[in-house]
Amino acid sequence: SRVVKLAVIPGDGIGPEVVAEAEKVLDAVTAGSGVVFDKTRFSLGAARFLETGDTLTDEDLAAISANDAILLGAVGGQPGDPRLKDANIERGLLLKLRFTLDHYVNLRPSKLFTGAAGPLAEPGEIDFVVVREGTEGPYVGNGGAIRKGTPHEVANETSVNTAFGVERVVRYAFDLAERRSRKLTLVHKTNVLVHAGAIWQRIVNEVAAEHPDVAVDYLHVDAATIFLVTDPSRFDVIVTDNLFGDILTDLAGAVTGGIGLAASGNINPDGAFPSMFEPVHGSAPDIAGQQKADPTAAILSVALLLDHLGLSEESARVSAAVEADIAARDGARTTAEIGSAIAARL
Ligand code: NAD
Ligand code: IPM
Ligand code: MN
Repeated sequence: SRVVKLAVIPGDGIGPEVVAEAEKVLDAVTAGSGVVFDKTRFSLGAARFLETGDTLTDEDLAAISANDAILLGAVGGQPGDPRLKDANIERGLLLKLRFTLDHYVNLRPSKLFTGAAGPLAEPGEIDFVVVREGTEGPYVGNGGAIRKGTPHEVANETSVNTAFGVERVVRYAFDLAERRSRKLTLVHKTNVLVHAGAIWQRIVNEVAAEHPDVAVDYLHVDAATIFLVTDPSRFDVIVTDNLFGDILTDLAGAVTGGIGLAASGNINPDGAFPSMFEPVHGSAPDIAGQQKADPTAAILSVALLLDHLGLSEESARVSAAVEADIAARDGARTTAEIGSAIAARL
């Protein structure tokens, strides 16, 4: 039988609650399938930092890298907690994993499932994928501040966009569009961010010439937020930078029935490093420990994980179980009840 080495990082807040359900579903779909997931658990996040002072050690990183894939719940404490200032869990842990493991495709599908309680009165059919660049942009940490705390303070955060980095994610997005509805929308802010905008637009134009059958569209990010609410059916594949992609995918989650349904994959398509699958949402300190979190996003992240590993049949079975569960939803259930119900359909 095939053995897949899986690093599991439950994390903070609702992370462990939703990961428990994701594992339930992974166990159910692989039972008797001939695929065995050999899991190693990593205790990382805000809680670990408060206990030990460690964010992500070199040993952690090496041990995680030795796996075939990673399943992550969510990391991070209460926003603004002064005790976590030095930990910088988001940069020192989550982004460090994404950058070190070269997760240059941050894949975030958005689909309105039948029965999902979205906020739009007439949503139409929503089924698009945001291909968010994952290793560059304003996220790289190319910044600094001088004269801190004075009225003359200057604080900079430079967006880094390399031809290499933009081209590889744009190529991935076009290849994905070829396998879907052949429609690709570049989202940026080329009217203001002229240098970063120009490189994205130029490379999209160049790669578009190799894909004459893909209809290419462009929207400024502010206008894109309008259309995500008023006409989300217009989208198939959206390709965008790290920060715009972050913001758009929370909005996309809200529009398709809530952030508790939004899955993601941090993908290294070359396969040189393990890819990492996680819900789009965070650790939700406001509902943590209460079994109120929806584990569906984590479960759909397992579907993305299976698909990435070439286990497309298992992936489809998980998606179908989620779809059936959402269609049958009525009334409140605990995190574990949702996970068990989905697992029971497998
Ligand atoms: P959040 O996504 O944790 O929460 C935003 C809102 O969505 C909250 O009201 C929360 O209760 C709700 N929500 C989130 N997940 C839900 C679920 N599965 N079911 C039901 N409701 C859900 O965002 P935040 O409050 O801005 O961030 C909290 C912490 O998480 C911060 O430390 C942040 O940095 C971190 N964070 C981590 C990740 C990650 O690990 N990938 C992602 C985003 C935020
Ligand atoms: C996400 C999160 C992260 C991001 C944070 C926690 C660093 O918001 O995965 O969407 O901005 O990418
Ligand atoms: Mn986000």
